[in-house]
Formats: sequence, C-alpha cells, structure tokens
Amino acid sequence: MNYTVSQLLTQDITFQPIEIKGWVRAFRANRFIALNDGSTINNIQCVVDFENTDEDLLKRITTGAAVHIKGDLVESQGKGQKVEIQVSSIEILGDSDPEAYPIQPKKHTFEFLRKNAHLRTRTNTFSAVMRLRSSLSFAIHKYFTDNGFYHVHTPIITGSDAEGAGEMFRVTNLDAKNPPLNDDSSINYKEDFFGKETNLTVSGQLEAETYAMSLGKVYTFGPTFRAENSNTSRHLAEFWMVEPEVAFMDLAGNMDLAEDFMKSVLGYALEHNREDLEFLEQRLLTEEKSKPQAERSEMSLIEKIKFVVDNNFKRVSYTEAIDILRNSKPNKKKKFKYIIEEWGADLQSEHERFLVEKHFKCPVILFDYPANIKAFYMRLNEDGKTVRAMDVLFPGIGEMAGGSQREERLEVLKEKMKALDIPEEELWWYLDLRKYGTAVHSGFGLGFERLVMFATGMGNIRDVIPYPRTPQNAEF
Ligand code: 4AD
Ligand code: MG
Repeated sequence: MNYTVSQLLTQDITFQPIEIKGWVRAFRANRFIALNDGSTINNIQCVVDFENTDEDLLKRITTGAAVHIKGDLVESQGKGQKVEIQVSSIEILGDSDPEAYPIQPKKHTFEFLRKNAHLRTRTNTFSAVMRLRSSLSFAIHKYFTDNGFYHVHTPIITGSDAEGAGEMFRVTNLDAKNPPLNDDSSINYKEDFFGKETNLTVSGQLEAETYAMSLGKVYTFGPTFRAENSNTSRHLAEFWMVEPEVAFMDLAGNMDLAEDFMKSVLGYALEHNREDLEFLEQRLLTEEKSKPQAERSEMSLIEKIKFVVDNNFKRVSYTEAIDILRNSKPNKKKKFKYIIEEWGADLQSEHERFLVEKHFKCPVILFDYPANIKAFYMRLNEDGKTVRAMDVLFPGIGEMAGGSQREERLEVLKEKMKALDIPEEELWWYLDLRKYGTAVHSGFGLGFERLVMFATGMGNIRDVIPYPRTPQNAEF
C-alpha cells in the first residue's frame, strides 16, 4: 500500500510492507536515503541494501531525484528516528543531475532561493512556510463558516478605485502601439473590451458591502493588486486580502471581530502546524544568534504567537497615539525620519512600530483617524474631523489590517465624494445601498501575506507567497 511520509512517521503501522514515492533530500554512505514527499517537514530514512543493489542504480539516487520505494517499515536501528524503511526495491521515477540541481543539501540564501522559487519548496524552510500558508487559509474559511459568514467571490476586474489611491493596473486589450483616440487625443476606452476603463481590483470591499447589505455577514478572500512602486519587505504588487463585511455592526463590533478572528486563525496554526512552527522557531533562533543582543527578540516564534492569542489587543485612539508619539524619546531626539509635530499627521510605519514594539508591546488597534488621511467611505464622527477607521498593528509587521465603519448616510457620502472628485456615476450602485435600506455596517481588510509573515517569522513578504510580484519582477 502507498503511504505518505507523514503517515509512516505518525501512525502505528510498523513491520508492514509499504510503498512510498517522494524526492531524495540526501543520500549518505551509499546507504541512507532521506526521503521527503511534502507531507511533513520530516524525512523518512530509507536504508538501501547497497551490496545487493545495482551500481548504476545507486548512482542515480541523487539529491532531487524522484523515487518509488518498496520495503518494510521497521524500528530504526540508528538514532534520530523511531522508524525507517528497509528498502527491498527502488525505482527511479525521475533523475536529477547532481551537478546541475540548484537545491543542494546545504544552506542557501533566501535571495538565491527566490531566483529558484520553482524549487524552493524542496527546502525545509519554504515547505514549512507554504504548509502554514495553506493551513492559515483553511483556518480563515473555517472561522468565517463557523461564524455564519458567506464567502463572496468579488470581481478581480473592476471599473472603480475602491481606495481612491490611484495605484491600479490597467486591464485592456487595446493595441498598445496604436490605441483608438478621442478628438482631444486621449485614449477612447469606449472601444476597449469592456467599453470603459478597467483595472485589477485594489480591494473587494465595495462589492462585499453590497452583499453584506443582503446576506448580512460576508467575506471575500482573493488576490488584490496595487501598482505602488514600493520596494519594501512588506509590500507586493499582487497579494491576497481577507475582507469581512457585516451589516448592523459598528466600529466596536468590527474591532471585536478583527481581534477574535486573528486569534482564532493563529490559534489554529499553533494547534495544527506544530512541527513546522518548531522548525521555523529553530531557524529564527539560529538567525538571531548572528544579531547584536539589543536587536534579538525577547520571545521565540511560538511564544510570540501564543502571546497574541492569549492577550487582549490594546485599543488606542489616533489622538491618544499622537500624544504618546509626540512625547516619545525618538520624537524628541529627532530619531524618527518623520517627526510628529501636530494632530493630523499621517502615521508612518516607524511610528506604528514604536507604539506596538516599544510602547505597548502588544498588538494595538488604533481608531478614529483624521478624516483627510483615510478613504472616502469611512463613517464621519460627530466631531466632523475624524472617521470611524481602525488599523490593527502587529509587532514586527506594522499594519496587519485596516478597516472602518462605513458611511451609511447618503448625503454625507455624496458630500465626501464630491470633495474628492469621485464621480457619482461611477459608484451609482454603491450609493444605491444608502438609498434602499441603508444601515450601519463595518468591515476590514487583512493582508494575508502579512499574517503569514507573522505566523512564520519570515522577514520578507517575498518569501511567504509562492511567486512574488514586485516592481521589475514577475518571473515564473
Ligand atoms: O489598508 P488597506 O489599503 O485597506 C483596504 O483596502 C480596505 N478596502 C479594506 C477593507 O476595509 N475591506 O489594505 C488592507 C490590508 C493592509 O492592512 C495590509 O495588511 C494589506 O492589506 N496590504 C498589503 N499587503 C501586501 N502588499 C501590499 N502592497 C499591501 N497593501 C495593503
Ligand atoms: Mg491601510
């Protein structure tokens, strides 16, 4: 019978004839194959009877080769594993040239592995990261399903700029060299595929709102695109966003939901991905040893995740945060790149990280931001200058999620759109929600890769998505 490595290592099926297929991670002393098939971080040791094995066959057992092994699962004689396979026959399914195969059984830099992203999940680190990614994705769907949410597939191609940031990728099939022009020599999008200008979505929120206002509790979880030219370790041009949207829920409810959701999803990973987390924790500890003492983390990876799961997120208004920042040491000593002078300043990631990592030392939800630094759809507060916005900030990551209570009053929303030059014709359907049975509603968007970064301890967002899309890079 065919088994996976995970089954063989965790189930009580010793002393049975078994079959297994996988890739050779290493072949030692012409005798010991470390075999991996992706089902677990662990390899199974396969012991080859080299005296009775054809020499040409032995030569083809190389790192990276795909093999089909038949044998007996027995208690291991050696240290380091409970069971091993006594190989009775081995078939090479696919050879791997040992001279050319990039993933040698040694340490590779992440830069090198990014260039070989099609093979990097053959390393322990990347297979662990991607198993966690898969698990977190499942946990997200599970959380929402368990809590009565419906999954909505919002469109990827849209005609509206939800965030109003204008950082969109155009979708067109017009001839780039010779596009149809209007009299004023602007491009005539009426002749484009959709008969209008269209882009890849920056957020499914506006469409999700329409579903929340009928199905009640919904979420969308899909690819999102931003043409920001920011080459940071936290930005991608293509990333996955989770966006719940709930009718009759205010900002306080939104904060409760965000906190409960994040704790639940991270808790799921703690429970179901223990071995991968333990491996990544060790990797981080080794990496930390090369850092100066002051920069080392006080908590291990698993401790950090547990800390988030077990402790309340601190809720702080923007106004309180500005006071804290203004009086902070790095502000007074001009250590911040952007000095906080007055109320109204946009917070940079250095400020967010100061609040989370130095001041509060726990996840923080900042709320009630100045209206003019946030998107048009956020609910204006009674003070007329702040909106019911919230940002969830995490240690080591900064902004993990952002959301708000939505402006449900037609006139106020129209006013806001006018001030920002957003044409009503573009969002007529969005305005309709405020005409027909409008109600308080709220939601947020969580950057899935940032969550995966936090859960895996990986420092660069390019290393938590299979094929990162960043400025000047769309390989694979
Ligand atoms: O804060 P953002 O821009 O919020 C929205 O798009 C809202 N429409 C969400 C909503 O209320 N439904 O983006 C949400 C999150 C950010 O907090 C961040 O985690 C992530 O998406 N994000 C990115 N992740 C990776 N690369 C980028 N370029 C990102 N831009 C935002
Ligand atoms: Mg944001």
